[in-house]
Amino acid sequence: MSDDSAQQPGERIASHIAHNARVWNYWLGGKDHYEVDEQVGDMVTSMYPSIGEVARADRAFLGRAVSFLAGEAGIRQFLDIGTGLPTVDNTHEVAQRIAPDARIVYVDNDPIVLTHARALLTSTAEGATDYVDADAHDPAAIVRTASDTLDFDRPVAIMLLGILNFVLDTQEATGIVRRLVDAVPSGSYVVLTHPTLELGGEGNEAAMKFWNENATPPITARTGAEVRGFLDGLEIVEPGLVSCARWRSEGAEEGPLVAQFGVVARKP
Ligand SMILES: C[S@@+](CC[C@H](N)C(=O)[O-])C[C@H]1O[C@@H](n2cnc3c(N)ncnc32)[C@H](O)[C@@H]1O
Repeated sequence: MSDDSAQQPGERIASHIAHNARVWNYWLGGKDHYEVDEQVGDMVTSMYPSIGEVARADRAFLGRAVSFLAGEAGIRQFLDIGTGLPTVDNTHEVAQRIAPDARIVYVDNDPIVLTHARALLTSTAEGATDYVDADAHDPAAIVRTASDTLDFDRPVAIMLLGILNFVLDTQEATGIVRRLVDAVPSGSYVVLTHPTLELGGEGNEAAMKFWNENATPPITARTGAEVRGFLDGLEIVEPGLVSCARWRSEGAEEGPLVAQFGVVARKP
């Protein structure tokens, strides 16, 4: 078995198999992907035509949730786990437009995201941004490294957008959320998006099966009850667990109903 940590990020990039961060970038209309990512991305779209809308709705949810947190909720620290490749309106850009002193730590384990991390590190002078190359399966390491930039005695918004779906075991995923929530004080928040088969999305299940046979990392959908289970003991913010396209998306912003839950919850 090779020791990934001893390699340079460029050497860890597997360009022969589709990777989630790069295919997600393709669906969002970005340019940071390989031919294999386009091929798998197109196959998934042919089976599940609304996947592009899911990706766009998820990013739009990120914008509304971070605006709520930096604005109404007064949060100044963000731990964005499963960041993805830089795109428009990354977490620090949305947060620092509202609160220039906001501090953001990005975490991802995909080497291609690491190679693009510079674009995520353009902080305001008053705030701070950092990037941590780490695996969501190791929340203790994430908290330890993130504490170089974030003060874990003050509220933190833990962002888990489109990532717990890559932790296939629900008990393990619940344990990860618990350990992260245990590391932050009262007044902190958890922000989640997660794919589901409960909100429709024709071809969603077949497309996930295709993904798991042809791309990496493998993915799973979850029910609303399973996603709510991640948030046991937390206060779910209005409007609750809904399609991420419907979370505080009044008026012109309201997009199509997508099969991806979005939810924000507060640690009491
Ligand atoms: C679907 S993308 C979501 C990106 C962004 N959060 C968003 O909502 O647009 C999932 C991201 O999670 C990352 N990821 C997947 N498994 C991971 C793990 N075990 N640890 C850290 N990051 C992971 C992928 O590399 C990818 O960038």
